[in-house]
Amino acid sequence: MPTALTDFCRHPIVQAPMAGGGSGPELAAAVCEAGGLGFLAAGYKTADGMYQEIKQLRGLTGRPFGVNLFMPQPALTDTSAVEVYREQLAGETAWYETELGDVDGPTDDGYEAKVAILRDDPVPLVSFTFGCPSRAVLDGFAEVGTYTVVTVTTAAEAQAAQWSGADAVCVQGVEAGGHQGTHRDDPHADGTGSGLGLLALLAQVRETVQIPVIAAGGLMRGAQIAAVLAAGASMAQLGTAFLATPESGANPLHKQALTNPLFTHTELTRAFSGRPARGLVNRFLREHGPYAPAAYPAVHYLTAPVRKAAAKAGDAQGLNLWAGQGHRLAREMPAGQLVGVLAAELDAARVSLGLGGPGYGPGGAV
Ligand SMILES: Cc1cc2nc3c(=O)[nH]c(=O)nc-3n(C[C@H](O)[C@H](O)[C@H](O)COP(=O)(O)O)c2cc1C
Repeated sequence: MPTALTDFCRHPIVQAPMAGGGSGPELAAAVCEAGGLGFLAAGYKTADGMYQEIKQLRGLTGRPFGVNLFMPQPALTDTSAVEVYREQLAGETAWYETELGDVDGPTDDGYEAKVAILRDDPVPLVSFTFGCPSRAVLDGFAEVGTYTVVTVTTAAEAQAAQWSGADAVCVQGVEAGGHQGTHRDDPHADGTGSGLGLLALLAQVRETVQIPVIAAGGLMRGAQIAAVLAAGASMAQLGTAFLATPESGANPLHKQALTNPLFTHTELTRAFSGRPARGLVNRFLREHGPYAPAAYPAVHYLTAPVRKAAAKAGDAQGLNLWAGQGHRLAREMPAGQLVGVLAAELDAARVSLGLGGPGYGPGGAV
């Protein structure tokens, strides 16, 4: 298995893990085969469901890939805010003719069982979001030759990841689509504007830790990838750009919404899951975002039937339309072709910046 981040693939392009159906084996395989780094998202899946996807992906490609895990979250001690939110969502249940969900689901996302499988049958790379694993877990992965990456949203989180023994960090700017991978969810930060943009955060992290960095958030074009590489990243991770590809398992309503001019912008919201996540502003987000409680994953379980009913009704206004700030630039093309186009744009940007042409590949970090 590769031991340096830049040895995993030919192009410095990572397809972001996207839980909820976005990134399955088909998408990951297409990206890997085209010279990028494909990812499976284990979040919301059972440990066995994750393992089945790994086996499926191995059948589709022999190239290295990553698997992403959610870190366990603290159990909710006071459910009163969630019960108030249940009342506030009454109109949704009437409109979509469905009940709200049971909020007592697990808060650990099957973490221990998933780690056990990945230790027994190692994959090339494992990344984590919503926290930093213990040194014991990271050392355990190192023992079996698995490269580890911890998602960070501040320089302090990057430092914690390095101290704990991570091989690299994925720096996630506030522009990013989907959940922010913040290690400790702090509701006092809501609306303060404290989330850092990718370039501001990247510079801070580069001056704080020595381990390699993957940059994520709002990246849709090769020139932007050139920019984050110039700012010290070893690779760029793109989610929304890959969400629009035919291999992505995202709901067609979600894919169409990315470039639909009716959806003009994105916001960070707790409305759907109880943790800040960036999505296209639709009716559900606009109405319930202002008072949704900080209670992940209870709110995720609570709203699940409404989201399902909205999808069934073909109504994008009731769905969590996760998207990064660059969503309007999404291109509907096969994932392998997208990797090729991004790599060509990157090379062109490098030439125009006088950084030299193609130069990335096994052992050839920029
Ligand atoms: C639909 C969707 C689902 C996501 N799910 C995950 C996930 O399961 N694990 C994770 O670490 N990041 C997840 N992310 C965040 C990505 O890893 C990445 O930070 C983000 O997509 C980068 O911003 P961009 O979407 O603007 O490219 C998700 C993003 C999207 C858009």
